[in-house]
Amino acid sequence: MNKEIERLIDEIDLLQAAPAEEPMRQYYFIKKCRQYVKEISEKLGRPLRAATVTFGCQMNARDSEKLTGILEEIGYVEESVEEKADFVIYNTCTVRENANQRVYGRLGQLNRVKRKNPHMLIGLCGCMMQEPHVVEKLKKSYRFVDLIFGTHNIYKFAEILATRFESERMVIDIWKDTDKIVEDLPSERKYPFKSGVNIMFGCNNFCSYCIVPYVRGRERSRNPRDILREIETLVADGVKEVMLLGQNVNSYGKTLEEPMSFAELLREVEKIEGLERIRFMTSHPKDLSDELIEVMKTSRKICRHLHLPVQSGSTDILKKMNRRYTKEQYLSLVDRIKTAMPNISLTTDIIVGFPGETEADFQETLDVVQKVRYDSAFTFIYSKRTGTPAAAMENQVPQEVVKDRFDRLLKEVQKIAAEECSKHEGTTQTVLVEQMNEQDDTLVTGRLSNNLLVHFPGTKEMIGQLVDVKLISCKGFYYIGEAVK
Ligand code: 5AD
Ligand code: SF4
Repeated sequence: MNKEIERLIDEIDLLQAAPAEEPMRQYYFIKKCRQYVKEISEKLGRPLRAATVTFGCQMNARDSEKLTGILEEIGYVEESVEEKADFVIYNTCTVRENANQRVYGRLGQLNRVKRKNPHMLIGLCGCMMQEPHVVEKLKKSYRFVDLIFGTHNIYKFAEILATRFESERMVIDIWKDTDKIVEDLPSERKYPFKSGVNIMFGCNNFCSYCIVPYVRGRERSRNPRDILREIETLVADGVKEVMLLGQNVNSYGKTLEEPMSFAELLREVEKIEGLERIRFMTSHPKDLSDELIEVMKTSRKICRHLHLPVQSGSTDILKKMNRRYTKEQYLSLVDRIKTAMPNISLTTDIIVGFPGETEADFQETLDVVQKVRYDSAFTFIYSKRTGTPAAAMENQVPQEVVKDRFDRLLKEVQKIAAEECSKHEGTTQTVLVEQMNEQDDTLVTGRLSNNLLVHFPGTKEMIGQLVDVKLISCKGFYYIGEAVK
C-alpha cells in the first residue's frame, strides 16, 4: 500500500462530513468502506475477497489496476476466481458487440452464485455502461447487480461502493462526459516491473464505426508534470518499462494550457533515470509526425515497435470510415518510418466488412498487408454499434461474404507475420523477462523490444530483469532462445 495515501487516510475523521475536494473525498470513502468490510468480515470470520474482471483494451486494464488498488485499500483480498469472491467487478468493453454478449453471459452465471451467497456484491463499470440502452436492460432484467458506474467517474468507486453499503439498493451513477482528471488514487500493478500510464483520455476522431468517442468522451491530456511524476514514482518502485496510453497518443498535448507535442513528452520521459523501456499505444496515422519518427529513431529507450491501425486499405472505405488519410498517405508514412528505423516492428488493426466494402476494396486491404508486411495484425469483423454513423449506412455486407474475407485476410496476415518473425533467427537481443513459462517451469517468458515473445531456460529470479538472449528458433509468432552469459 502507498504510505503517503495511508497517512492521509489515517488523519481523516469520519465523524466530519466528506471533504469536497479530490482525491481527499475518495480517501474519506475508502476509510468508510473499510469499516463496512471489517464488520462483514468479522461476522463471517474470514477476510473478504474481491475479483476484478477486465474486458477490452489496455486502457481498461489500467483502469482495473486502479479499481484493484482501491479494493485493497478498502480491505478486500484479491481473488482470481470470480465465483469465490464476495465482490465481483466487471470492467466492461463495448467496442464490438461480442464483448457485450460475454458480459451478459457471465452475469447470468454469477447470478446463480449470488443466490447461494446473498451477501455477494456485483459491480459493473467501463465503456458498456455509458450506453443508455445497456443500463435500461440491466435495470429491467439484471436487478441483482449492486452498482453501476461509467468511464468518467471511475475515480468515485469508493464513494459509490459506500453508497451501496448504506442503501441496500442498486446504485447507478453514470456521467455523460467530464473535463475532470483526478490524480493520486491508489493503484495496484499487475506486474511489478512494467506499468501502463495514462497520458490522455477520450477521443475526438469519430471514426464512423467506433463507439469510443461516445463512451470515453472528449479528448483530455494529462498535465506532463503529473505524468512524469507518476513515472518517476513507478521507477523508484521497480518499474523498468512503461506503456504510455491514449486512444490517439499522437495528438497528445494539443488541448493543454501550455501545448506540448507527444514527441516532446517522449523526450522528457526518456530522461527519467532508471527507466529502461518506453512503449506507447495507440497511434493514429493521420497525426503521426516526422518529429515523432525522429525522436523514436534517436531514442535509446523507445521500443522498436509501432502499432499503426490501418483499418482498411481502400481509400474509398477509409473516407467512409472518416479516417482522414488515403491508402497512399498511409503507405508513404510507413516508408518514412521504415527508412528511419529499418528494424522496426509494425502491427495494425484491420476491420473487414465495413458497410459498402466490395471485393475490390478488400483487395486493396490485402495489398496494404502485402506491402507493409506487418509483424502482427489484429483482424476484426465489422460490428454495428448503435449510435455511430456507420450503423445507419446502407449496403451492410452479408455475413458469409465477411466471413470469407476475414478468413482470407487472416491467412495472409499469419503467413507474413511468420516470415517476418523468422528474420531474427540467430540474433542476440535484450529480453525483459515477464513470467515463468505457463507450460514448462524450466523456461521463462519475456518480450523483445519489438514486442515478440521469447521463451528460454531460466529461473524465477530473472523475472523483471533485462537479459540478452540468443534467438535460436522461430515458432511462427514467438521464439525459443538461450540466455547469453
Ligand atoms: N467493429 C469492428 N472493429 C472495431 N474496432 C473499433 N470499432 C469497431 C467496430 N465497430 C476496432 C478497430 C480499432 C480496434 C481497437 O477495434 O480496429 O482499432
Ligand atoms: Fe475509435 Fe477512431 Fe478514436 Fe480509435 S481513433 S478510438 S478507432 S474513434
